[in-house]
Amino acid sequence: MRHRVAVVPGDGIGKEVVPEAIRVLERAGEIWGFGFDWQFFDWGCEYFLKMGSMMTEDGLDRLREHDAIFLGAVGYPGVPDHVSLWGLLIPIRRNFREYINLRPVRLFEGIEGPLRGAAPEDIDMVVVRENNEGEYSEIGGRLYHGAPEELAVQQATFTRRGVERVMRYAFELAGERRGRVSSATKSNGIIHTMPFWDELFWEHSDEHPNIEADQYHIDALAAAFVLDPRHFDVVVASNLFGDILSDLGAAIAGSIGIAPSANLNPEGEFPSMFEPVHGSAPDIAGTGVANPIGQIWSGAMMLEHLGYAEAGEAVVQAIAQVLAETSFRTPDLGGKASTHEVSEQIVESLQEHSSSRSEEAWPGKGG
Ligand SMILES: NC(=O)c1ccc[n+]([C@@H]2O[C@H](COP(=O)([O-])OP(=O)(O)OC[C@H]3O[C@@H](n4cnc5c(N)ncnc54)[C@H](O)[C@@H]3O)[C@@H](O)[C@H]2O)c1
Repeated sequence: MRHRVAVVPGDGIGKEVVPEAIRVLERAGEIWGFGFDWQFFDWGCEYFLKMGSMMTEDGLDRLREHDAIFLGAVGYPGVPDHVSLWGLLIPIRRNFREYINLRPVRLFEGIEGPLRGAAPEDIDMVVVRENNEGEYSEIGGRLYHGAPEELAVQQATFTRRGVERVMRYAFELAGERRGRVSSATKSNGIIHTMPFWDELFWEHSDEHPNIEADQYHIDALAAAFVLDPRHFDVVVASNLFGDILSDLGAAIAGSIGIAPSANLNPEGEFPSMFEPVHGSAPDIAGTGVANPIGQIWSGAMMLEHLGYAEAGEAVVQAIAQVLAETSFRTPDLGGKASTHEVSEQIVESLQEHSSSRSEEAWPGKGG
């Protein structure tokens, strides 16, 4: 079975971590018996500086033909961040109805995170971020530019359909995990959209009596991520709150360089997109020391989405093994290894995993 995947390495370290992740995914394909036809697109901020747009005019049509999209990161000094976000990522997420942004947070053995005494079993959660509406909205405007009475209005939008589908996804996911959903709200200060969010959260909680549910104001939730991360299993949040929480989650898990994400269109009507949480990191771009794990783990999520759950799980195990059993780490995790050396170790660990797997399947082999 072969899969057509659109690859957008983007800018900065995106161009460095994407090829390393592709090597790991190719290896997984050889072991599990599937393959990829990668189609590369050189879109991003550097493209914008030459061509005046983040992607070609028919960009979305070209992406639509693929089974999935594998993206690095966009962002480049000299291009305002709202141009890069609204010119590429948001059109993809919205037009392809990728309304779930899944962001796992996990402390791997062998990583010393910033929380004193935290063990791997203390940090293992998934942030389910609403990805199509909420605070990220084009509705609004500015008046009286530069004048003392200048004003800016930004309209958040929450629809019943949009909130219900993210709640449904979060409760179902919790049913497959440890059975708890925590909702991020701010209904004390934001008095229209957030009480609406809360109402729909509790409606879904009533429909899932076996799932424990609780809600926190976003400020208290940020503190609880640091003080009591063990409490959290699935966290459901609006577009903005989910974005902030997943960076905080990445920080307590040791580095933003390891955090993955999946932008899912669960119905499969459009391609889903897989990308690390981090940006293009201009401060380290070109030095060859970007952590490739966030990109590789995003690739593992893509494998699962394409129907190769075992291969995806094996890639995550290979990451875990390298972190637990070797000293190969990029500088963000306190090591000296390069991007390539870390991914090389992950490929080797995947290889070992597949050898032990085939011995299990053929216990008499060689005897
Ligand atoms: N999805 C995306 O494409 C995305 C997400 C966030 C930011 N951005 C863009 O990226 C640019 C830089 O943004 P930023 O500095 O706020 O965030 P960033 O994630 O690029 O970097 C934040 C810090 O984390 C470090 N870091 C990030 N990824 C790393 C990795 N894989 N390995 C080691 N260290 C890593 C960086 O060196 C930097 O010190 C901006 O233009 C921003 O708009 C893009």
